[in-house]
Amino acid sequence: MVTAYDVPSAQVAEEAGVDLVLAGDTAAMTVLGYPGTAAVTFEEMLVLTKAVRRGLLTPLLVGDLPFGSYERSHEQAIASAQRFVKEAGCDVVKFEGPASGRARAIVEAGIPVMGHLGLTPQTTTALGGGFKAQARDFVAARRLIDDALALEAAGCFALVLEAVPAEVAAAVTRRLEIPTIGIGAGAATDGQVLVLNDLLGIFEEFKPRFVKRYAQLRREMVTAVSSFAADVRARRFPAREHCYSMEPDDRETFLASLEADA
Ligand code: KIV
Repeated sequence: MVTAYDVPSAQVAEEAGVDLVLAGDTAAMTVLGYPGTAAVTFEEMLVLTKAVRRGLLTPLLVGDLPFGSYERSHEQAIASAQRFVKEAGCDVVKFEGPASGRARAIVEAGIPVMGHLGLTPQTTTALGGGFKAQARDFVAARRLIDDALALEAAGCFALVLEAVPAEVAAAVTRRLEIPTIGIGAGAATDGQVLVLNDLLGIFEEFKPRFVKRYAQLRREMVTAVSSFAADVRARRFPAREHCYSMEPDDRETFLASLEADA
């Protein structure tokens, strides 16, 4: 699974042949410039998710319910999930946290749900602040297993595990029948997810330990735009092949008319 936030990134994911695409609320930080994911609004996520849908055919599209759109009540969560399906064309939705009753309510409304446990970036303040690994002590690790089992029992079809020790993710994966998808959760999960802008090296503000950069696209983008600016300043761009021309007769008549004006 990778994230995508617009048509080009969705098309890249499509062509690369990934199985799932998450229109993730990491868009808040990677494309919208917010300091964290909690700030992104429902309407902003809807716009970005619709764009992802327009660029995607084959992979399963996961809509990411943003902070504030599912916590109040089952009714609120179902209404939000329905908008992601009806308006943005999502196949399924994901939400963060151990609220298994909420997951069950959305599933019973006919919308498949992907859970998300461990580091839940929308609520980092409640988790003690910052993007920190979770479930590192015995009690928290046991609680994570219980939460994962409860989400599975509630009907979740898959579970993201973010920033948890590899042995904890391995234990959850062994106990669950549904697939786990890890991000910073070691190698034993059934699948892996990375934020596209991290793996492509477009987002460079910080790099969590679990990110592997497969390209350095930001640098290439800066080099390309710098070359364009240098070419324009040196009048090397546009060249003849980038310009439109007139039909010869019209050109002559036009130039002659300009001379006559002068
Ligand atoms: O929004 C997102 O990108 C995510 C992934 C980190 C799993 O939730």
